[in-house]
Amino acid sequence: MARRAALLLLLLAGPLLLAAPALGTSGTIVFTTLGRSRYAFDIFALPVAPLATAASPSAAEVRLTDGASVNYNGQFAPSSDSLLFVSERNGTLNIYSSPAAASSRRAALEFLDDSAAAPAAAKPLLPWDPIALKDRPSLTPDGAHLVYISTAAPAASPRRSWAAVYATHLSSGSTRRLTPPDVADFSPAVSPSGEWTAAASPGPGGWAGEVEDLHTDIYVFRTSDGSRRTVLVRNGGWPCWADESTLFFHRRDSHGWYGVYCAMVSVTGAGEVSATSVERITPPGFHAFTPAASPGAPGLVAVATRRAGSDYRHIELIDVSSNNAAAVYMEVTRPVAPHGHHFNPFISRDGARVGYHRCRGTGNGDAPLLLESIKSPAPDAFSLFRIDGSFPSFSHDGKRIAFVGLPGLFVVNSDGSGGRRQIFSGNAFPTAWDWKRKGVIYTSIGPEFSSESTKVDVVAVSLDDDDDDSSHVSIKRLTIGGDNNAFPSPSPDGKWVVFRSGRSGHKNLYIMDAEDGEAGGIRQLTEGPWSDTMCNWSPDGEWIAFASDRHAPGSGSFAIYMVHPNGTGLRRVVHSGGAGRTNHPWFSPDSKTIVFTSDYAAVSAEPVSNPHHYQPYGEIFTVNIDGTGIRRLTHNSFEDGTPSWTPYYLKPKDVAETLQASGMCAFQDCHWLNIQQAKTDGLNLNMMMCGKHG
Ligand SMILES: *[C@@H]1O[C@H](CO)[C@@H](O)[C@H](O)[C@H]1NC(C)=O
Ligand SMILES: *[C@@H]1O[C@H](CO)[C@@H](O)[C@H](O)[C@H]1NC(C)=O
Repeated sequence: MARRAALLLLLLAGPLLLAAPALGTSGTIVFTTLGRSRYAFDIFALPVAPLATAASPSAAEVRLTDGASVNYNGQFAPSSDSLLFVSERNGTLNIYSSPAAASSRRAALEFLDDSAAAPAAAKPLLPWDPIALKDRPSLTPDGAHLVYISTAAPAASPRRSWAAVYATHLSSGSTRRLTPPDVADFSPAVSPSGEWTAAASPGPGGWAGEVEDLHTDIYVFRTSDGSRRTVLVRNGGWPCWADESTLFFHRRDSHGWYGVYCAMVSVTGAGEVSATSVERITPPGFHAFTPAASPGAPGLVAVATRRAGSDYRHIELIDVSSNNAAAVYMEVTRPVAPHGHHFNPFISRDGARVGYHRCRGTGNGDAPLLLESIKSPAPDAFSLFRIDGSFPSFSHDGKRIAFVGLPGLFVVNSDGSGGRRQIFSGNAFPTAWDWKRKGVIYTSIGPEFSSESTKVDVVAVSLDDDDDDSSHVSIKRLTIGGDNNAFPSPSPDGKWVVFRSGRSGHKNLYIMDAEDGEAGGIRQLTEGPWSDTMCNWSPDGEWIAFASDRHAPGSGSFAIYMVHPNGTGLRRVVHSGGAGRTNHPWFSPDSKTIVFTSDYAAVSAEPVSNPHHYQPYGEIFTVNIDGTGIRRLTHNSFEDGTPSWTPYYLKPKDVAETLQASGMCAFQDCHWLNIQQAKTDGLNLNMMMCGKHG
């Protein structure tokens, strides 16, 4: 099979040295993040004033971030021109400030192209830097305190979000949590005076598993210490302040439309905060969300929209102060970059500029394979990498990585030579290498996520060892019945393969001969009217870990279980609360720990503020096989999944920071924003102006 060498390159700093398994280290974990490897986000700004008349709007757009990292969720500082933003650099995520958020394109280019100055130009703001998601930065007006989301502190119980509002005093570094214990907050915004912070919170009830319409209320509390926490508005998210008494937010209505609303806020003499009126600003018939406002731009709200006839998320400005009956809408980004998604606008304090983030590139072509080093919470024990592919697994000599592209089965050399080699073009999932026979990869061929009776077969794919163009690939079908046979995992003695099959009408686990497949012998390992799936055989041969919904069949809730290969010793290892989802177990090299993906930490940001993710709650965790010691490895608002673990220690410094400069851009907007899915029947299209009654 011809190699597609030109398409994908493993970009490495130099020859990759594979350290042999060594005492004290437990190797490398590799996982996938849906779409993330294609997010070449930068923050851009346009002047507000000439929007309507600019002859060449794209000439006025200024890029404010480095054009190399993944930069998003910007905010202008209140008292200066500086930009606050989230950036993913060197395998970790932090809040940065760039002091010279230039107001002209020329100045921005000078700033950004001065390579000597560039590294110093943007600096991490937080002296406090645990591995955590940080998000939605804003500064108090005196510039002294940075207010932001962090997931640094675990929630007290499973399936609770770790996202909470913190305030850091920048000169001393002293940090205070403003969100009460075991409560989550998202999307905070500091009021222009600095006195109040508003945030979206699921409240004491916590998160119930929802993605498309995150159920949050808007809370307000004092920025100084989190006190006087009050529900301002039920059912709303993404608050922003126009002035001390005007707060905008978004809400999804019962017909499915996202709309922007305005709340008038008043503080009584006794210091009680309440909303005296709530009015809808944008009509149904299109989606408007993630509003932004500024005291310097009275009567203006910036929003992201999805409109009928457009597949793209664009930024618009709404003039709500207009005396006309209807608000005036001005397009911001469509004239500049019609075929890009633009996210999460913000307006400068003086009202002169509107900012947003989008991909710096436009290409949807083939992407370089990315093996991106992620900061490990136990760097001396294991390294952590994200790969631009699903179901990655290392060969047992550590020299190759197999993964799937849904469709396609691919292999790359871990030393970076030879490019990505496609060894099967149809749909295959997942991947697991035979322990004894070199170059043999087990996978299953057919559609993923399908019913018990779907035709899916377990196969063994054999590669020649030399990986040259002429090398031969053979594919041997191991299962005989076509009833959704998938997730093969071989035993370390090379004799058996465990897999799941729907042949009884339910998905249960079976063990068959590794070389001859079912024809060489098969026995049923688990049995019952539920789904047992995603099995993994421990390297010491003693256990098979798997995901199952046997505690609540058909509910969608999965937990991790273990059973001995002889069918004894069945027990549950980890469960993410009553309705939780915990999947894709893979044993550590010493068989004492399992890496898995789970909603154990709920969602970490409002999903509508990100590109599409089916399961934005997916994060990677490890747990001891006795169920103790749950450790969170990833902190982001994206969908992480399909981890695997090799004893070989891939050194982070041997893998370059990669994708970033390439500007590729290939992801989908949230599919629930598709216009066809929302209805307009019977809706009142007459919307109020903010603060005007009648
Ligand atoms: C972070 O990565 C960049 C390359 O993207 C590199 O120039 C820089 O030295 C790294 N910084 C640290 C602290 O490792
Ligand atoms: C089943 O396998 C486990 C683990 O190898 C072993 O400890 C146990 O004795 C076995 N039980 C039977 C009944 O063979």
